[in-house]
Amino acid sequence: MNLHLLPPEIEKAHGDFAGHLEACADLDAVMRLKGAYLGRDGSFAARMIDILKAAPKEQKRELGAAINALKNKWEESLKARQSALEELRRQRAAQAQSWDATLPPPLPPRGALHPLTRLIDRLVGIFRPLGYHVEEGPEAETEAHNFDGLNIPEDHPARGSADTFYFKDHPKMLLRTHTSPVQVRVLKRLAPVIEQKGGVRFLAPGRVYRKDEIDPTHSPMFHQVEGMLVGRGIGMHHLKGTLDYAIKALFGPDAATRFRPSYFPFVEPGCEVDARCPLCGGAGCRVCKGAGWVEILGAGLVHPDVLKFAGIDSDTWSGFAFGMGIERIAMMVSQTPDLRLFFENDQRFLAAMGGLD
Ligand code: PHE
Repeated sequence: MNLHLLPPEIEKAHGDFAGHLEACADLDAVMRLKGAYLGRDGSFAARMIDILKAAPKEQKRELGAAINALKNKWEESLKARQSALEELRRQRAAQAQSWDATLPPPLPPRGALHPLTRLIDRLVGIFRPLGYHVEEGPEAETEAHNFDGLNIPEDHPARGSADTFYFKDHPKMLLRTHTSPVQVRVLKRLAPVIEQKGGVRFLAPGRVYRKDEIDPTHSPMFHQVEGMLVGRGIGMHHLKGTLDYAIKALFGPDAATRFRPSYFPFVEPGCEVDARCPLCGGAGCRVCKGAGWVEILGAGLVHPDVLKFAGIDSDTWSGFAFGMGIERIAMMVSQTPDLRLFFENDQRFLAAMGGLD
């Protein structure tokens, strides 16, 4: 192409053309560039026509050919860019509309087991290798299972309607106040076969109910896990070893346990078991209220009357039982300050507890 007859600004415009064209992101930009180079008025092409008109006659032929070649080149390049952009637009539109039935659908947000369920599952997992299986009992219980079979005297305050939900139409029916009635049910069921089985061993998780006002540490419904072992020659040492093992499995190998004498009518002797505070390691913190120890459960050796009531010979058989409050442990481990968070099922709380993903 013979550009030497054209003024330098046209030469420069041609030099810039490829860069300008490359920079055109859409068809509008291409049209604007086309206007600037080839448009009727004020464009480089229009300027070239003026230059041609003003040129001496003998130069016109050569100059005209150069101008035409230049215009053709611009035009071709503009067209090519235009088609490329049109093709890109078609592809994008096709993509936006396309729906591939062979692809897996987007997954809805996935739920997960509730943090309390997970803690119960962990406890079950700790005791299962020790031979404990899972038992369940009804939440609507009889007085016989909830109190009588557990050696709880007629005048015991826990029997009062101030603490216990009784059914209006069934005065001997109530919402169980602890998971201990499962002891009574399982012992009665297994009494005829206890000899063959060589004993009884189970864990009983579930809901329990007490007439408590709702506040950050109380709820009329909460969870317990009951544990029981009956065998020959079972003593306090078995209980202590088992619970120490379980609490270390739960809180880590540095956990320590402390047994304090206490009273429950269905065990003798009875005790309350503390764990060294898993958060401060015993130094004292907000969770253990400076004590360095936290109460984890109630326990003891099964009272002979409980065995007798179920039809088991208490001279041959003895055992231990324990019961722990799940929310208390869950609150402690997760440092959750308010018990109600476990029941409101706010997705943000569950997600923070690792319950959702
Ligand atoms: N049932 C008792 C309670 O709810 C706990 C317990 C269970 C104590 C088994 C001793 C033995 O507080």
